[in-house]
Amino acid sequence: MSIVVWVDGSFVEPRERALSALDHGVTVGDGIFETCAVYGGQAFALTRHLRRLGRSAAGMGLPAPDEARVRDGVAQVLAAAGGSAGRLRITVTGGFGPMGSGRDGGEETIVIAAGPASPGPTSRAVRSPWVRNERSAVAGLKTTSYAENVVALADATARGGDEAILANTVGDLCEGTGANVFVEVGDELLTPPLSSGCLAGITRELLLEWAAEDGLPVREADLPFSVLDRVAPGPDGGASSDAHLALAGSVRNIQPVVSLDGVPVRAGELSIAARELFDRRRRERIDP
Ligand SMILES: Cc1ncc(COP(=O)(O)O)c(C=O)c1O
Repeated sequence: MSIVVWVDGSFVEPRERALSALDHGVTVGDGIFETCAVYGGQAFALTRHLRRLGRSAAGMGLPAPDEARVRDGVAQVLAAAGGSAGRLRITVTGGFGPMGSGRDGGEETIVIAAGPASPGPTSRAVRSPWVRNERSAVAGLKTTSYAENVVALADATARGGDEAILANTVGDLCEGTGANVFVEVGDELLTPPLSSGCLAGITRELLLEWAAEDGLPVREADLPFSVLDRVAPGPDGGASSDAHLALAGSVRNIQPVVSLDGVPVRAGELSIAARELFDRRRRERIDP
């Protein structure tokens, strides 16, 4: 399918110039966004995504996005996409603004786009040399200031991966560039708490809730970044590796990791069970 794009109430061609060249989102990354999976022409977990969009706006000091307007735009874009879209992106920026970091109260820009998606069932992760700052002014906010993620993902891609895994400034495991992380250790699947600086991922949140309901042992726990040493096979070819890694994010859902830093690693049983649980539960309701 082609990409469908809507900007402030009008459809535009994907490559058409549709924003002010001085939109503050372009100038300094002064904006927020959401990405949802789309199933059967409907956005998955849209209410949770819109709630987080509101939290990101508040954290950024941007006006709360007009939810009815965003929902209307989403409906228009998905109708135009005609049932073949796999992902939806909602971006809200500060709008036309000054050439520096200051704001002058411009009117927001809303961009909504739908396009195809073909997520794989597993992922190849690479440990990033850079860290997430859990004390940053925008920690935990889904802002359009994603340059750090762009650089980290390019580095992971150059090393044969499809996602980078970052520690935070105190050496704890944090998240990926576009995914939360889960580590299977012992009989549990553990994910770093929000205090690690990771995004409050909707997929992570749903997995924690559904696992609790279904009796799958999944919970939050502080994890040192060095826990990943236990995922990588040792020099004996794997006997010393007793942990497994999985990623969680919209569109990808739950992906057990099958390669770390270019070395094959085994998908864990709990990670596979979590993927199955998520796939089953997400089919029950489009907006859980
Ligand atoms: C930095 C970051 N962490 C985690 C996630 C996963 O969040 P969600 O499950 O809401 O997609 C994303 C989503 O793109 C992200 O950008």
